[in-house]
Amino acid sequence: MIKKKIIVFTGAGISADSGIKTFRDADGLWENHKVEDVATPEAWVKNKELVLKFYNERRKQLNEVQPNAMHYFIASLENEYEVNVITQNVDDLHERAGSKNVLHLHGELIKARSTLNPDLIYTLKKDTIEIGDLCELKSQLRPHIVWFGEDVPQMDTAYQQTEYTDLFIVIGTSLNVYPAANLLTYVSAYTPKILVDPGTFNLDYINNLTHIKLKAAQGVSSLNEAITKAFK
Ligand code: APR
Repeated sequence: MIKKKIIVFTGAGISADSGIKTFRDADGLWENHKVEDVATPEAWVKNKELVLKFYNERRKQLNEVQPNAMHYFIASLENEYEVNVITQNVDDLHERAGSKNVLHLHGELIKARSTLNPDLIYTLKKDTIEIGDLCELKSQLRPHIVWFGEDVPQMDTAYQQTEYTDLFIVIGTSLNVYPAANLLTYVSAYTPKILVDPGTFNLDYINNLTHIKLKAAQGVSSLNEAITKAFK
């Protein structure tokens, strides 16, 4: 029997229930930093030490958190469906929960890449990247993160996956950051869509959308019911 296909599109909200802060908190800061000071190509040119330190801290924090019930639920969907996770998150909590197909639109904390050739990507063997850590071409390593103002190289793959899905699930994203936020508009009007997020959205223009207004870990059973309903 051919398995039904599900795309799960996630953002910072799913990892919030594991203890990682979301980006758009009330103070406008990201872990006490202005985004432009730590997550832009300009910041890298201006102060590499600060940028490396910031991501070293994020990596350290990642070691201290665990996947939550929603990460595990998404991984369990693979028993019954063909599942592709498309995430804006740079943590590895989906993989640690057992998800096999995870596309990281905004990069991965556990990886570094060459500043000379962006195709040279390395899984880190330690928690930090320091000044003087070099790629095989002898250029400085940088975090494997898509910074504000940079291209999102995986976007085409994400669009392709999204076009042919039987169900599109969105969890914990403000849908504020483009092009990732565009994905929802690529899903066919006939395809059921489910959003799990405690926030308020104005998505009247999206057809066939069910909004479960709950936090990720609390929304698991409602999501399970909504999936069953979508495939009835
Ligand atoms: N469970 C589910 N959703 C939650 C929870 C929770 N416990 N807590 C907060 N949320 C929701 C908020 O309602 C909001 O809609 O998570 C969303 C978080 O939004 P953002 O902080 O904007 O995060 P995200 O949408 O992932 O940001 C996208 O922006 O800064 C960049 O590259 C970064 O990947 C990131 C991108």
